[in-house]
Amino acid sequence: MKPAGTHSSESMPEDLSEALKKSTKDVHEQAETTEFMKNFQKGQVSLREFKMYMSSLYYIYSALEKESERNKDNPVYAPVYFPAELNRKHALEQDLEYFYGPTWRQEIQCYDATQKYVVRLQHVGQHEPELLVAHAYTRYLGDLSGGQVLKKIAQKALHLPSTGDGVAFFTFPGVSNITKFKQLYRARMNALPMDSATKQRIVEEARNSFLINIQVFEELQKLASQGRENGHPMQQQTELRARGTNQAHSTVPMKESERVQMKHSNILPSTSLIRWLLILGFLAITVAVGLYAM
Ligand code: HEM
Repeated sequence: MKPAGTHSSESMPEDLSEALKKSTKDVHEQAETTEFMKNFQKGQVSLREFKMYMSSLYYIYSALEKESERNKDNPVYAPVYFPAELNRKHALEQDLEYFYGPTWRQEIQCYDATQKYVVRLQHVGQHEPELLVAHAYTRYLGDLSGGQVLKKIAQKALHLPSTGDGVAFFTFPGVSNITKFKQLYRARMNALPMDSATKQRIVEEARNSFLINIQVFEELQKLASQGRENGHPMQQQTELRARGTNQAHSTVPMKESERVQMKHSNILPSTSLIRWLLILGFLAITVAVGLYAM
């Protein structure tokens, strides 16, 4: 019996690209059907959730691209090194600045599952560079596939402008033809020098990468639901402050619940003022009537 979570090499296709596609089919489906991704696909993603997601991606891609850079001349990775076409870190910086404003670096958080992902990427890049392709494949080919659907959904759900602000992450200006580029990437993966044991380890690492992504989504989902239950006043304040002060951000419309909350918080001081004015008016009239009666 093979150990749980591993994949037998008996029926493994010759080409790495085919082996990866086949062996990650089930975990891809698992990732697609996490609550976070299911909701996202239905357009049920709040601004807060999206910002948390983009923040996690920032840490992930910063690590992935640092390790890519470290291994750009290593023959086990160099053929799939496409910084001009694929790098996402800069795009994520633009998106985070758009959503959080200039102080985004102080505002974003790296949650546990994301941190675990970062640690794994660092380990792979530094100690098992032949596995780095598994991580690059999982993220970049995913971004060039389902990611393109998610872009449109996010723009619609969050009423983002058609200029592409807020979704730079999903936009690949260096790739003019996505289908052709994916073909090129697969061909490069297939030309990487490796024996069958290494191929097996790469496939396992890709599955592992999907599972880590799933953990990231599950954690974000949990944090998002906790935030909803607790109302997360601090977070909402930060969001509203960013919207009020950050020019770029001000184009992002508020959620109905936030609009209602804003309306109420604006109304409250004026209602108590009116109440006091009425009391004072009533007292003045009472005194005036009393004086008149005397
Ligand atoms: C709502 C979520 C998702 C949807 C709708 C989706 C959809 C798709 C589709 C339609 C393809 C096939 C594209 C093609 O054959 O040209 C694809 C491929 C792929 N997706 Fe996803 N995906 C989602 C989530 C993810 C996630 C979370 C990851 C990884 C973290 C991922 C990684 C990949 C990879 C690596 C491929 C390339 C498979 C290959 O051709 O070898 N996807 N996705």
